[in-house]
Amino acid sequence: MSASDPREFLVETQGSVNRVLDSWCERVLHEWPGPVGEAVAYSLRGPGKRLRPALVIAGYRSLGGSGDPTELASAVEVVHTYSLVHDDLPCMDDDELRRGRPTTHCRFDVATATEAAFRMVPLSARVLAAGAARLGLDAATTGAVALELFRGAGSSGMVGGQVMDLEAEGREVSREDLVCIHSAKTGALITASVVMGALAAEASADRVEAIRSYGREIGLAFQIVDDILDATATSSQLGKTAGKDAKQHKATYVSIVGLDAATREVEQHIRNAMDHLAAAQVDSELLGNLARFVAQRRN
Ligand code: IPE
Ligand code: IPE
Ligand code: MG
Ligand code: MG
Ligand code: MG
Repeated sequence: MSASDPREFLVETQGSVNRVLDSWCERVLHEWPGPVGEAVAYSLRGPGKRLRPALVIAGYRSLGGSGDPTELASAVEVVHTYSLVHDDLPCMDDDELRRGRPTTHCRFDVATATEAAFRMVPLSARVLAAGAARLGLDAATTGAVALELFRGAGSSGMVGGQVMDLEAEGREVSREDLVCIHSAKTGALITASVVMGALAAEASADRVEAIRSYGREIGLAFQIVDDILDATATSSQLGKTAGKDAKQHKATYVSIVGLDAATREVEQHIRNAMDHLAAAQVDSELLGNLARFVAQRRN
């Protein structure tokens, strides 16, 4: 595996994360026979990029971890997938297309999709516990990793950001508020991902904080790019409906600062991310290349 090609690394982690998720889907289908279990498996088996687990693995390896963190990393993908199922519901962004397929509530129905997503929250805790045991993490480290994930997913992170995103629809929003929304709804889980990897590798506190700062920069950049792609790419390129942010009067970087400034800001956040790593002497080609991937991605 070459650290100089982030796409190669992503393809490799996609394969290993998909295998772990698939085995959890088999378990879910057995434990929850019927539409809700099928909706969980349908959602988890969708062809996502698996970037967040890749960031857990990259954080872990870059800070000296030598075990296999794939199952631990897959816990983040379960949380992320639940967030997408809820994000697409009619009461939220009301989307029909996700990862190139009908959204979970279109494939099943709204009640089934809503429940399936809620069930993925405790499921993610089970995946995390199994992943931590597989790595042989002690109780304190496991607790710190779990806290990181669920703080990132919680009311000061993803869930809180999603609420702010909905409240901002059709309203005039300041640039500062937009940074808060994007950092919470998307940045928090991306930040948690790299930090979880660093914690699992038992990195020193200053290196964990450097990784956190890196995560904040690339997490915000990731959502700015999402806003840019919504305005500039096609639905078939994205596997989700393009052009919806403007229609739904969402607060986005494109609507508030414009395309050119948004593109420049992405580059600035990537430079900041690299500076945080350099300042803490975290010398990781992999993290550097993943940061560049975030800026250059086309879907
Ligand atoms: C989409 O995330 C939702 C956002 C937070 C912008 P991704 O672009 O990572 O979606 P998948 O997981 O690859 O489908
Ligand atoms: C979603 O942001 C962030 C989540 C927490 C799921 P968006 O609403 O912009 O994500 P997409 O564009 O639907 O993937
Ligand atoms: Mg949304
Ligand atoms: Mg959406
Ligand atoms: Mg979007």
